This record gives sequence, structure tokens and C-alpha cells, in this order.
Amino acid sequence: MQHSQLGATGLKVSRVCLGTMSFGNSEEWMVEIDKARPIVNRALDLGVNFFDTANVYSNGRSEEIVGQLLKEHRDEVVIGTKVRLKTGDGPNDEGLSRYHILTQVRKSLKRLQTDRIDLYQIHRWDYATPIEETLLTLNDLVREGRVSHIGASSMFTWQFAKALFTSDLLHIARFVSMQNHYNLCYREEEREMIPLCNDQRIALLPWSPLARGFLAGKYRRRETPDGARYRSDKYFAERFFRPEDFDVVERTEEVAKEKGVTTAQVALAWLLHKGVCAPVIGATKVDHIEEAVQSLDVKLSSDDMKRLEEPYKPHRIIGPLPIP
Ligand SMILES: NC(=O)c1ccc[n+]([C@@H]2O[C@H](COP(=O)([O-])OP(=O)(O)OC[C@H]3O[C@@H](n4cnc5c(N)ncnc54)[C@H](OP(=O)(O)O)[C@@H]3O)[C@@H](O)[C@H]2O)c1
Repeated sequence: MQHSQLGATGLKVSRVCLGTMSFGNSEEWMVEIDKARPIVNRALDLGVNFFDTANVYSNGRSEEIVGQLLKEHRDEVVIGTKVRLKTGDGPNDEGLSRYHILTQVRKSLKRLQTDRIDLYQIHRWDYATPIEETLLTLNDLVREGRVSHIGASSMFTWQFAKALFTSDLLHIARFVSMQNHYNLCYREEEREMIPLCNDQRIALLPWSPLARGFLAGKYRRRETPDGARYRSDKYFAERFFRPEDFDVVERTEEVAKEKGVTTAQVALAWLLHKGVCAPVIGATKVDHIEEAVQSLDVKLSSDDMKRLEEPYKPHRIIGPLPIP
């Protein structure tokens, strides 16, 4: 297994992070603990030490599964989770207020069966809470040892820059990672966010690195898409499946054939060659994690990279919450 430093920290993480939004039961495409167990065990066998979840995935069930499956390995793994999105109908059941963060961190620790979250990420910007309140609360959690490092996920670049300079002004813990939407079919982050992160030594942890499976090449132009994920993932159909997205996937398939590897492996190898810390991959089968780890051995030349990037057409913004 290859490892990277998590941004400017001393923490070493595997270059493949296993995302666990697929573990749970809130939608048809997800898998429960019986099917998640062999995926996690295989990931551990292959040297994956980095796991990502969130308090909202299947209303906490993903965290429970992760906690159950990793409790015997707690001192060998790095666990990231998130806070921000809606957990209920009450006025304080979402956001990045001190109240919501303190309530949610307690619940996440309990479900994860641990006393420490290695990477606690804000799951979007909160337009209602001053960033100072959020950062001071997160800093308290770091001081207490309940959280080791703090990270952020999908927002506008000006928001992330504001958060970083606010931490520096207050001399408190700053975000060390950005979990953003980045893959061969969605490259809008290359405009502003990625250059900022590179300048600030922020670890890039792209989510949906295979565009929810679209970049694995299993959906074909002019064929009616099917499969549990397509049917039940409410974001999937509206995000990809444009003719220009098929141009990208067909080019990826072409390069994969030449190299004798799968389309998914080339799409992940492209991200690794772009210098990301670790793609946060999604898996519902053991083969998915195996192929993801094998993608670390796929070598792409600068000509391959150019060919893969050539068909891309700008995409509407997917990730940050719009300004209310
Ligand atoms: N921070 C955020 O806002 C945010 C948002 C979304 C996701 N995430 C994180 O990112 C993780 C990954 O998201 P994602 O599931 O959308 O990622 P993805 O890696 O783009 O897609 C995963 C899906 O691709 C298919 N797949 C994976 N490997 C394959 C292979 N080798 N061959 C064929 N198909 C393959 C599977 O689809 P099938 O199941 O249909 O076979 C799998 O469920 C999540 O678990 C979560 O931790 C974070």
C-alpha cells in the first residue's frame, strides 16, 4: 500500500480511502453489515487504513457499521466522519452551531464505538452560523482530544479561504483536508479550490471519484440505464449521462483497453496522477475495493493524461450549497 501525509499533518493515510455512504439501509443500492463486512476485511487485508463516513449516512447506520467492523482494529485505522447536514426537524438539528456540533460529536463517537475521531469534517458551509463559532468549537474538540484533525467538504473557494484565514487570525486549529467533488467527468474544482488547497498544503480527498459508478463504464450511450444505484440514488441521473460525459467515459475506456486494465482503474489512476491525497471510493462489492487498490499500479503518461482530459466540457456546479 502507498501512503500519503494528510495535508500538513504527520498522519499517514493509505492512498485509497474507503467511503462508507454505501453502508446502511436508507436506499435500495446500499448494503447492510453482512455485505459490508467482507468489503472492510478485504480493505484491511490490502492495507487500506483510511475510512470515511458521516453522521447523516443512513441516519447514523453507516457510522454504526463502521464502528462495529473496525473496533478490533481501532489503533491501526484512521476514521473520518462529518457534521453539518440535517439530522431531524428541530431548529438545531442541522448546521455548524456550537450546539449542533457538540450534540452530534457525542452521537458519532458513540456509534463509532471510539473515544476519538481522527478527521472531523464539516459537511458543507453553514450560512447561518458565524465561522468563528464553528472553528472555536472544533478547536475545543481538538484540545480535548475527542477530534485529532479537522477537515471540510464541498463549498465555494472563498468560504474555505475565509475559514483558513480565520483560524490563522485566531491561532487555532485549521482545516487540513478538503473532501470535494472531483473526477474525470467533473473538474470544476480545478479552477479555484484545488490551486488554493495546493498552496495551503490541504489534503485533497475527492468524493465520488468514479462519478457514482458512471466512470466504471457500465452505463452505455443510447441504452436505458438500470441498476439499483441508478434507480434509487436520487442525485445520480441528473448529474451525469450528458452526451459529453459519455465522451469522457468512452475515452477512458479506450485508454483502459490499451493498458489491459478496467475503465474504473484508469479513472482512479487519473486522480492519483493529479496528486490527490486519497480518493474516497465507494464500494458495494469486494471487487470494487480490490480494483481501487490495483489502480495504484496503473501508470499514465503525460500523453495519456492529455487524452483523458481532452473531451471534458464545463459542468454545472455540483457540491457547494447555494447562497440562500
Ligand atoms: N462529502 C460529501 O459530500 C460526499 C458526497 C458523496 C460521497 N462522499 C463519500 O465518497 C464516497 C464514495 O462516493 P460514491 O459511492 O459516489 O463513489 P464512486 O466511487 O464514484 O462510486 C461508487 C460506485 O461505483 C461503482 N463501482 C465502484 N468500483 C467499481 C468497479 N471497480 N467496477 C464497476 N463499478 C464500480 C459501484 O456502483 P454499484 O454499487 O452500482 O455497483 C459503487 O457503488 C462515499 O462513500 C462517501 O464516503 C462524500
